Amino acid sequence: AAPLRLGLAGLGTVGIGVVKIVQAHADLIAARAGRPVTIAAVSARDRTKNRDADLSGYAWETDPVALARRPDIDVFVEVMGGHEGAAKSATEAALAAGKHVVTANKALLAHHGQALAEQAEAANLALRFEAAVAGGIPVIKALTEGLAGNRIKRVMGVMNGSCNYILTRMQAENLPYETVFEEARQLGYLEADPNLDVGGIDAGHKLSLLASIAFGTRVAFDAVELEGIGNVSIDDIRLAQDMGYRIKLLGVAQMTGRGLEQRMTPCLVPADSPLGQLQGGTNMVVLEGDSVGQIVLRGPGAGMGPTASAVMADVIDIARGCRLPTFGIPASQLAAAQPARAATP
Ligand code: NAP
Ligand code: HSE
Repeated sequence: AAPLRLGLAGLGTVGIGVVKIVQAHADLIAARAGRPVTIAAVSARDRTKNRDADLSGYAWETDPVALARRPDIDVFVEVMGGHEGAAKSATEAALAAGKHVVTANKALLAHHGQALAEQAEAANLALRFEAAVAGGIPVIKALTEGLAGNRIKRVMGVMNGSCNYILTRMQAENLPYETVFEEARQLGYLEADPNLDVGGIDAGHKLSLLASIAFGTRVAFDAVELEGIGNVSIDDIRLAQDMGYRIKLLGVAQMTGRGLEQRMTPCLVPADSPLGQLQGGTNMVVLEGDSVGQIVLRGPGAGMGPTASAVMADVIDIARGCRLPTFGIPASQLAAAQPARAATP
């Protein structure tokens, strides 16, 4: 069978992870996908950077829009980041040029998911984003496929590893927020703009994407009630601990009689509960369906291997011919979300 040819835009943590999987597991992927998956061309800003991977067999484009339009690619893999600029224009260009798109970019989809999904579906193209939510945890697949026979009642969880790292370090080592924030920054855990993490914005993007799939509504990031962890003090953490609780940046999305409730805020959870026990950069997503009951998914929410693993799951689905709509049902059929403010903080 003809190979599925990737154009890889972004050669940072996630992009190099994709290169490594494609190179290491070529036979296994070909067997599972029913055809070889190859990288035809790559793009990043700086061609001279040492990237700890053999890129010599791939064509180079400095401009990701040019990469998106290349006739020798079938799938545009967007792992650059940012919700305006290159990520948006190159994704639009790829879809306009008839390329499927796989992205790890939650910001892009939280802001432009509806328009991009409509563009993809009008052209019978796939636009997939498993890696954008909870890194290596296959939560999009769980919602769109595994739980497709359920009415989803609630989606809940810890979806930002950096915040969970900071909060668990503060609690375990009795360290102030500023010290652990700096430590996380030095370790490279935080986004280039750390406010995306500690402001709860990144986790809010993820929650809004899950809510769209779970409730068949248009992505409504602006309606997420957001509060980050910047105001959580060591005193708050000690007080919670004394009462048998932990503080977690917890997301909850549910459909209520008043509309769609979405909130991403620091919450008290029992210290001995699975959420209370969640350590470091790990994520946990709890899905509640009317037939299945409660499903708990736990795993690495970020990092080279886990995130690239999720990107490749989407790529292999596309190679198999899967054209599932981006948000589980056609974008044109997603209902406008009626936002409801949370009843309780
Ligand atoms: P990163 O390490 O900062 O890498 C970004 C890559 O994109 C770099 O290679 C950069 O080129 C390239 N790039 C950025 N702007 C560009 C432009 N205008 N034109 C061409 N290339 C450009 O980022 P990352 O951590 O891999 O994250 C990539 C995406 O995955 C983001 O959307 C992020 O939110 C998402 N994500 C990341 C993780 C994670 O664990 N890292 C997990 C889940 C989702 P240069 O190298 O030349 O600068
Ligand atoms: N900054 C994000 C996190 C990366 O810490 O969870 C993965 O989306």
